[in-house]
Amino acid sequence: MSSSVPFVPDSAPFTPAQRAWLNGFFAGAFSRAPVHSSASPESPAESLSPLTILWGSQTGTAESLAKQAAKEAGKRGFAPTVIDMATTTTTDLSTTQNLLVITSTYGDGEPPDNAKALHDALLSPDAATVPASLRYTVCALGDTNYELFCQCGKNMDEALAKLGATRITERVDCDVDYDDDYAKWLDTALGALSEGNASPALSAAQEPGPTEPESAPAYGKKNPFPAPVLTVRNLNGEGSAKEVNHVEFSLKDSGLTYETGDALAVLPTNDPDLVAQVLTALGCDGEEAVTTSVGEQPLRAALASNLDLGKPSPKLLAALNLSASDDIVDVLDAIQAASRPLPSLADLVANFKKLQPRLYSISSSPKAHPGEVHLTVGAVRYTVGDRARKGVCSTFLAERAVAAGTAGVFVHANKAFRPPADPNLPMIMVGPGTGIAPFRAFLEERTATAATGKNWLFFGDQHAATDYLYQEQIGDWQKSGLLSRVDTAFSRDQAQKIYVQDRMREAGAELWSWLEAGAHFYVCGDAKRMAKDVDAALHDIITEYGKKSPEEAAEFVQELKTTKRYARDVY
Ligand code: FDA
Repeated sequence: MSSSVPFVPDSAPFTPAQRAWLNGFFAGAFSRAPVHSSASPESPAESLSPLTILWGSQTGTAESLAKQAAKEAGKRGFAPTVIDMATTTTTDLSTTQNLLVITSTYGDGEPPDNAKALHDALLSPDAATVPASLRYTVCALGDTNYELFCQCGKNMDEALAKLGATRITERVDCDVDYDDDYAKWLDTALGALSEGNASPALSAAQEPGPTEPESAPAYGKKNPFPAPVLTVRNLNGEGSAKEVNHVEFSLKDSGLTYETGDALAVLPTNDPDLVAQVLTALGCDGEEAVTTSVGEQPLRAALASNLDLGKPSPKLLAALNLSASDDIVDVLDAIQAASRPLPSLADLVANFKKLQPRLYSISSSPKAHPGEVHLTVGAVRYTVGDRARKGVCSTFLAERAVAAGTAGVFVHANKAFRPPADPNLPMIMVGPGTGIAPFRAFLEERTATAATGKNWLFFGDQHAATDYLYQEQIGDWQKSGLLSRVDTAFSRDQAQKIYVQDRMREAGAELWSWLEAGAHFYVCGDAKRMAKDVDAALHDIITEYGKKSPEEAAEFVQELKTTKRYARDVY
C-alpha cells in the first residue's frame, strides 16, 4: 500500500485526528518491517512504562495484532513485551502492571490451544486474587456467525475483574472485520494506560531515534496481491459426494514469501447469479450509486466485491424489521422476507457486513515450488429451502477463479504450526479431508530439506476410490520411505463408519512409542467434531499406553501443547 493512499477514507466516521492515527496505524500494521516479539523485554529503557501484551491465537491473527500493538505502544512511551499465553501463569500476572490481552476464540467458544491453560487457571474456583495495581483491558477476536462469539476474551475479561485487577477500558469484541474496532481499542487502551503512568509519553529527550527504516508495504487485507491463477484441479474421482480442488497461484514478482504451515488469505467475489437475485429483490438495476468502505461505487460492483451476502448482520435484520430465524440464512433470504417498502438503499447498504477474505492452509512447501503457492479447497454447497447455496470463496475458486485470471491474496503467518525445528524428530500428522493440506506441505518440506525424522500420516474421508486426496504423491512418499506409516480411514467403505481417531486407537501402542521418542503431533481440519474426537483418542492412548491417570494424561497433553509438540490448524 502506497503511503499516499489512506487506509481509512475521508468518508469514514472518524474525526480528522482519529483518521490520521488510524491511517498511521494501518500503514505500520501492513508494512513489511519485521515486528520483534519475545517472551523477554526488548531492552526497555528504564524510564519507560512496562507493558505486557499477552496473546492467545489459534491461527496467528491475535499474535500478529499483539506485535502490531507492541510497535504502537513503543512509539507511545511504553516498553512492551509480547508474550505467548502458553508461557504465562496467573502468578506472573500478579506482578504485572500494565496488561493488554488479545485473544481469539475458536470452535464452540473455546480458548485457542495456547490460551487454554491460562484461561482455565483464571476461571478456576481456586484462582488466587491479583492486585488492583494490575491494569488491563481485553481485545476479543471472534466471528458473529458463531453462537459463543468472543467467549474466550469475555471469560478472561470477567475473570481478571473478579480476581481484583483494574479494567482500564471496556473490552472490545471484534468480528472477522476487526481492523477498525481493534485500532480504536488500542488507541483508547494506550491512552488510558498512559494516564497515571510515571512516563506517560516520551519527552523530547526520550524521543526514540529512527529504529527500523520504514520498508515498502507488503501485501495485506487492504492491498492483496493479484495472484495469477495457475491451476484449479478437482482431486475427487467421478461419483464422489465431495468436491475438493487443488488450487495453484503464482507469486512471481510479488515479493511475497511464506513458510510451511502458513495460511493464504483469498479475497473472493460474490457469485454473479446471487448478485443478480439480490438486485431483483431490491428492485434495483445495479447502476445506483452507493457508499461502501471503498468509497462511492455502483451497487452491482459493491454487491460483487465489497458487501457480504452471507448471514445478515443483526443491524441489517433490524433495519429490515426482521428477527433471526432458521429460514433466513443469507442476505437474499432477508431482503425477500422483509415487508415493503424497504428502507432506503443507503440505510440498507450501511448495515451490510464487509466481504471478508477466507483463510486456506497452504498445501505447498516454498522450497518444493518456488514462486508458487498451493491450496486444497473443499467446495461448500448445500440447499436450504428450494435454493442451492454456495460458499463464497470455495466456489469462487472452483467456478470463476480461472476465468478471472487472478485472485487477491496475502499470506497469513501461523508460526505455531511448523514442522519440528529438529529435522530428526518424528512427526505424526492427522489430516482427514482438506486437513491433508498442510501435511502435503510438511512432507514436501521434509523432502526438500532431507530431514531424517520419521513421518506418520493419518488420512480419512468417505471413499477410498474417489476421495483419497493426493493418493499418488502419498504412495510415492511411502515407496521412498519418507512416510514410515500411513493409516487411512474411509468412513463409508464398510457398514460400520471408521474415522481417523479409530485408526489412532488401533495403533495406540506405537503412537505412544512415537510420542515417547519426541514426536510432534499435528491435527488439521474440522474443529467441531474431528479435532475433539482426535484429542479424546490422544488422551485415551496416553492413559492406556503411558499408564497414566486421566489427570496425568491431561497434564501430559498440556505439556505437549506448551512445548509446541501438539499443534492444531483446525477450523
Ligand atoms: P462461506 O463462508 O460463504 O459459507 C460457509 C458457511 O456456510 C458456514 O460457516 C455455514 O454457516 C454455512 N453452511 C455451510 N454448510 C451449510 C449447511 N449444510 N447448511 C447450512 N449452512 C451451511 N478450508 C479448506 O477447504 N481448506 C483449507 O485448507 C482450509 N484451511 C483453513 C485454515 C484456517 C486457519 C481457517 C480459519 C479456515 C480454513 N478453511 C479451509 C476454511 C475456509 O477458510 C472457509 O471457511 C471455507 O472455504 C468456506 O468458505 P466459503 O467462503 O466457501 O463459504
